[in-house]
Amino acid sequence: MTDVDALAKLRDDFRMQNKSVFILGASGETGGVLLKEILEQNLFSRVTLIGRRKLNLEGEAYQNVKQEVVDFEKLDDYTSAFQGHDVGFCCLGTTRKKAGAEGFIRVDRDYVLKSAELAKAGGCKHFNLLSSKGADKSSNFLYLQIKGEVEAKVEELNFDRYSIFRPGVLLCDRQESRPGEWFVRKFFGSLPESWASGHSVPVITVVRAMLNNTVKPSDKKMELLENKVIHELGKASDTLKP
Ligand SMILES: NC(=O)c1ccc[n+]([C@@H]2O[C@H](COP(=O)([O-])OP(=O)(O)OC[C@H]3O[C@@H](n4cnc5c(N)ncnc54)[C@H](OP(=O)(O)O)[C@@H]3O)[C@@H](O)[C@H]2O)c1
Repeated sequence: MTDVDALAKLRDDFRMQNKSVFILGASGETGGVLLKEILEQNLFSRVTLIGRRKLNLEGEAYQNVKQEVVDFEKLDDYTSAFQGHDVGFCCLGTTRKKAGAEGFIRVDRDYVLKSAELAKAGGCKHFNLLSSKGADKSSNFLYLQIKGEVEAKVEELNFDRYSIFRPGVLLCDRQESRPGEWFVRKFFGSLPESWASGHSVPVITVVRAMLNNTVKPSDKKMELLENKVIHELGKASDTLKP
C-alpha cells in the first residue's frame, strides 16, 4: 500500500467513527483554513466553532456547522459549548502589539487554558494545541515563555491524547496588515528552500499535518510536533483528493 492509499484508508476509518470536533479561533488564519479543510475532507459528523463573534458562513458546505459565541472573560457561563466533543483544535492567539503584554497573556495563556479545562470536563479525548517553534516556559522572551507555559499547563489536564504543534513562521496571505510578518515572509521567500522550510511553514501544511495526525491512531498521550515533522506530515496529503 502506498502512503497515499494508507492515508486515504485512515481517513475512511476515522469518518466511520462519527466523531465531533470543535475549533477555537476559526475566524483566524489557521483556524479558518482548518475549518475549510475539515469540511472538504468530511472527517467529522459534527463541527462546532467556539469564538467571540459569529462568522458569516454562507453556502451548503457550512450547513452543519454550529457556532457558539462566547465571552472568553466569562467562560464558566458557557460550559455547554464545550460539551460532547471528541476532538478539539485550539488556534487562538493574539500579539503583544495588538493586545499589549497583559492582553497577550490573557488570550494565549488564560483563554487557552480555561477552554482546555472546559473541553476536558466536557469529554474531549484529543486536544490539539497550535503553539510555536521555540516555545519554552523558561524563555526570556514573553511570547515563547507564555507558549511554553500554556503547553505545560494543558498537559497537566491529562487528556487521553494531547498534540502540540510548534510551527515556525506561518506563511499565509493574511487579510489583516502585519508589516513585520509581511517582511518575514518576503525574507523567507528569498532564502534557499531548505533553510526557509526549517523556520517557516505554509498554513495549509500545518492544517493538513494536524488532520493527518488526528486520523492516525496513537497510543502516545502527548505528542510534540516540531516544524520539520509538520512539513513531513502535512505534505503527505498534497496529492490526495479528499
Ligand atoms: N503568525 C505566525 O507566524 C505564528 C507562528 C507560530 C505560531 N503561531 C501561533 O499560531 C496561533 C494561530 O495564529 P494565526 O496567525 O492563525 O492567528 P490569527 O489569524 O491572529 O487568529 C487568532 C484567533 O484568535 C482569536 N482571538 C484573538 N484575540 C482574541 C480575544 N481577545 N478574544 C477571543 N478570541 C481572540 C481571533 O478571533 P477574532 O477573529 O475575533 O479576532 C482569531 O480567531 C497563535 O497562537 C499564534 O501565536 C503564529
